[in-house]
Amino acid sequence: MSYNLLKGKKGLIFGALNEHSIAWKVAERAVEEGAQIVLTNTAVSIRMGTIGELAEKTGSIVVPADATNVSDLENLIDKAMEHFGGKFDFILHSIGMSPNVRKGRTYDDLDYDFLAKTLDISAISFHKVIQVARKKDALNDWGSIVALTYIAAQRVLYGYNDMADAKALLESIARSFGYIYGREKKIRVNTVSQSPTPTTAGSGVLGLDDLMNFAERMSPLGNATADDCANYVITLFSDLTRKVTMQNLFHDGGFSSMGMSRRAMKIYEAGLGMKFDDVKSNPYPFGAPEGETKR
Ligand SMILES: NC(=O)c1ccc[n+]([C@@H]2O[C@H](COP(=O)([O-])OP(=O)(O)OC[C@H]3O[C@@H](n4cnc5c(N)ncnc54)[C@H](O)[C@@H]3O)[C@@H](O)[C@H]2O)c1
Repeated sequence: MSYNLLKGKKGLIFGALNEHSIAWKVAERAVEEGAQIVLTNTAVSIRMGTIGELAEKTGSIVVPADATNVSDLENLIDKAMEHFGGKFDFILHSIGMSPNVRKGRTYDDLDYDFLAKTLDISAISFHKVIQVARKKDALNDWGSIVALTYIAAQRVLYGYNDMADAKALLESIARSFGYIYGREKKIRVNTVSQSPTPTTAGSGVLGLDDLMNFAERMSPLGNATADDCANYVITLFSDLTRKVTMQNLFHDGGFSSMGMSRRAMKIYEAGLGMKFDDVKSNPYPFGAPEGETKR
């Protein structure tokens, strides 16, 4: 259902790899709501994924860019402005990757070159995108910039590894640039902290299935899907949220405010059947998972 929330607006969307990508859903919803869009991803992801189908479906163009490469970003912003015939209104940063996670390096055995890449791709790229857009004066006043993040920035969730540090930096960049861009141009910058979601990047997280089950049981509204996320992001691009900026906005069915839910506790009790005193002497009644102490 369309509410024409983005009628006449134009925007740039990073990170649609395939139909599971959160960015893919945002792109579809943005066009349904009346926006014109430009899509971008790395040359490799364009080749390996199916972004071409999305471009066809949404009547958009695809401009390749590595979001860590400033000259790629300059070219991208120029091409987007050319395509739109001037400034545009919104940007979605939906980018994440950790070589440490990919190569199975645990948090207490990080490869520091990999860590630098994790931070560059998953967080500093957000700074680069905003800095290039601002220098080129690419966004209309009252525009909106959103990046996707995860609650591992605030709380420890085992297995999220150095991506937790990247997300903390990403959220900080949203605040710091939100101040500058808001003061000058009324442009808002926010992060949306999404539930675990079955996407290509999501499946890189250790034990995603179990994490999704746990989060589902803990969240009174259940996990937010990629479609739910797209709906929320659309409101942030719309004129209905003009005074929301420099925020990390949880979009997780209530997970972030929970300590323990009855549904999760029941499963825990049923699976364990142990007395409290036994837990200390036997923390892994079903055997310690390999590498557990490190993750
Ligand atoms: N899936 C989840 O559980 C979940 C939860 C919370 C937040 N997020 C965040 O949502 C965002 C989107 O991820 P997704 O889950 O849709 O997975 P996805 O794999 O579909 O998207 C990740 C995208 O990042 C792109 N990317 C990687 N390196 C890049 C680079 N150098 N330049 C430009 N693009 C690059 C990939 O090509 C891909 O399109 C990420 O920031 C992710 O951390 C995901």
